[in-house]
Amino acid sequence: MKEDNKKPKQKLKTGEKLLFIVSGVFVVLGIIAFGIMQYVMATSDKPIFKQHTHFDLSEIGQKGSQIYRHNACSECHRAMSEGTNMGNSLDGIGTRHDAVWIEQFLNHPEETYPHRTMDHGPKPKQAYYVAELPKEDIHAMAIFLSELKSDKGSSSSPVPPKGESPFIDQMVKTWAPEEWKHKYKDIRDKEPQTTGAAE
Ligand code: HEC
Repeated sequence: MKEDNKKPKQKLKTGEKLLFIVSGVFVVLGIIAFGIMQYVMATSDKPIFKQHTHFDLSEIGQKGSQIYRHNACSECHRAMSEGTNMGNSLDGIGTRHDAVWIEQFLNHPEETYPHRTMDHGPKPKQAYYVAELPKEDIHAMAIFLSELKSDKGSSSSPVPPKGESPFIDQMVKTWAPEEWKHKYKDIRDKEPQTTGAAE
């Protein structure tokens, strides 16, 4: 009688076994592929992804990058593939703003930023200390940041990729209300064609 109460040891059904094997194979393949990718990335001299952001630091820019590093900016910002995504990425900021704007922002964030600021500004905002740094440090950081450039079409560039897109043209034609044509400018018309040479 006792024996009957015991649950019989459950065996896996064929379908379940198959499922385990198949998902196991996927996991193993994933690990192998990741390993190969890491190996190729480490040994290849060609970058796997096309680099759209670049920098060419002047002497003062280099000094600024050190000051930037010593002031915990990368706790919130990403730049030159370091840092976090808590604040906005500063890669390519030099294409969006010039050194004057950046310096003005660092000194007077709330007056300069086009929106309400979250972290830059007076206490108790977390990045309040930035505006209190020595003026020459702020200047050097502004120069450094203005030297972080991005090419057309990169996610950090204000200018979209070169060339016409029949798809986008068709979408605009179909969906954009007529009055938008007067109200808004096509961002692709923003930059004269001649400056594409930087690529
Ligand atoms: C506590 C997080 C934090 C820290 C630390 C911080 N920032 Fe920021 N930063 C932000 C946020 C968030 C924004 C967007 C504006 C806002 O909401 O304050 C911003 C905006 C900026 C902008 C304008 C970016 C743009 O594209 O408009 C610059 C430039 C900047 N920060 C530079 C710095 C520098 C330089 C330091 C270090 C000295 C620094 N930040 C430290 C969070 C931070």
